[in-house]
Parts: sequence; structure tokens; C-alpha cells
Amino acid sequence: MTTSSDDAIDWAALKTAASEAAQRAYAPYSGFGVGAAAITDDGRLITGCNVENVSYGLTLCAECGLVSTLHATGGGRLRAVLVVSASGEPCTPCGRCRQLLAEHATDDCLIDASGHPETIDELLPGAFTPDRLAEG
Ligand code: THU
Repeated sequence: MTTSSDDAIDWAALKTAASEAAQRAYAPYSGFGVGAAAITDDGRLITGCNVENVSYGLTLCAECGLVSTLHATGGGRLRAVLVVSASGEPCTPCGRCRQLLAEHATDDCLIDASGHPETIDELLPGAFTPDRLAEG
């Protein structure tokens, strides 16, 4: 059960932005475009799309582009995230991207990757965190 408030999040705007980003994906090998959109903690609307490579393992997921844009446009943290495929359907983040989002999300960040908002704790219980690293 998600307890964080999503009253202030414009989920419709996030879906539109993520869908537009998915249309711009570079996905010639899988044919599976993905778009991610987020509201930052200071209110910016940012996006990312997946970028594949002929050396398949080098593929950058949409969430990677999103996090790069977060920092390239002023930093901060992700307050709300929505991910869709090019068909407009929700796209659940892969394991690597869950860890990536966890590092750059606010504590109360909400992520809509399956048609409803969830917290990062729900998506990645027991995440490896900087706090754990500092404990040695
Ligand atoms: N993909 C993403 O962009 N994000 C995810 O979280 C899951 C997978 C992309 C990577 C690849 O370009 C395509 O979807 C098919 O795996």
C-alpha cells in the first residue's frame, strides 16, 4: 500500500511527456521504445528515452537518460516518475534501473510503472544504499 501523497502530481502531464519521449527512442534492435518522465523536487518536468547499441549490452534504458537529464538540467531529486512503452502502456523498470532510481529519488518519490503509483521501497525492497556503504 502506497502511503506517500500524490495529490500534487500531474500524472496526465507525465504520461504525455513520457509517451512523446518513447516516440523518440532509438530502439532499432528490440523495436521496443521506452519513455520516462519525471517531476523533480523543484518542479521541473524532465524526460528520457532508451538508446540501444549494436553491441546490445551497451543499451541505455530510458531511466538512464532520465537521470542524466536530471543532473544536466540542474540536479536535485526525482519526486515522481512515470515510464511507458511506445504503445503508451506502463513499463516496469528493470532491476538495474530500480537501483538507479533509488539513488536519485526523494524519500517520498512515487513511481508509476505498472498503472499506479508505488514507492521506491515497494519497487526495490532492501535496496543497497549510500548509508549501508558508509557503515563499512
Ligand atoms: N528498457 C528500458 O528503457 N527501461 C527498462 O526499465 C526496461 C527496458 C529498454 C531497454 C531496451 O532498449 C528495450 O527496453 C528492450 O529491452
